[in-house]
Amino acid sequence: MICAQAFKVSLEEGTPYFWCTCGLSQREPFCDGSHKGTGLKSHCFTVPVSGEVILCGCKQTKTPPFCDGSHVEG
Ligand code: FES
Repeated sequence: MICAQAFKVSLEEGTPYFWCTCGLSQREPFCDGSHKGTGLKSHCFTVPVSGEVILCGCKQTKTPPFCDGSHVEG
């Protein structure tokens, strides 16, 4: 975690990842199945190049699953 609402993670090119959209996961920013019964589901994504990325933790990003700075707006 790089701040209260964003996570710096190292990801592998072409590997499917499941970003948590509900905020209930114990494995943030990744889905652990805790969304069951909420009506929400995870967001599957891949990255084109291996390396570090910043994933959203506040769930307000307009560019999911990546942080767009929405957590500091308002
Ligand atoms: S645990 Fe949050 S979307 Fe799956």
